[in-house]
Amino acid sequence: MTQVSMTVNGQAASGDVEGRTLLSTFLREHLGLTGTHVGCDTSQCGACVVHVDGNAVKSCTILAAEADGADVATIESQAAADGTLNAVQQAFQDHHGLQCGFCTPGMVMSAVALLKDNPSPSEAEIRAYLEGNICRCTGYHNIVKAIMAASGQDVSAIAAE
Ligand code: FES
Ligand code: FES
Repeated sequence: MTQVSMTVNGQAASGDVEGRTLLSTFLREHLGLTGTHVGCDTSQCGACVVHVDGNAVKSCTILAAEADGADVATIESQAAADGTLNAVQQAFQDHHGLQCGFCTPGMVMSAVALLKDNPSPSEAEIRAYLEGNICRCTGYHNIVKAIMAASGQDVSAIAAE
């Protein structure tokens, strides 16, 4: 066992993990942060995306030990303490950017990271960025629309699905 320590959602977190323990497992099973979903464990679906030192990362692709000392943010950190949704979360709600919701935490975390780097992405740029996020409900159209709306762009030209 190895002890890992990191900052998760602004708070110190530590635990004893096996060398093979994934960051996604550490977040979900050691810290109880089950908003980070695991859809594949094979780096394909993106349901497990979190931010590590400000970058969007599939948390099933790195070991908890690799995140030792890192600053990690999960979906649980995105709404304000009073429950007010962040701009991306609110836009997903307003534009029906989710159906079953399984992919949503990863989609939101990816979208937040995208908008940090590119505050006004085109539809094509959003679709390209989300290549690593799979929605098995296939709600991509409204997800893209929500992200454009969250960036303050006019989405009236995007037809309803
Ligand atoms: S659970 Fe990490 S990419 Fe699917
Ligand atoms: S909303 Fe169901 S997987 Fe995306």
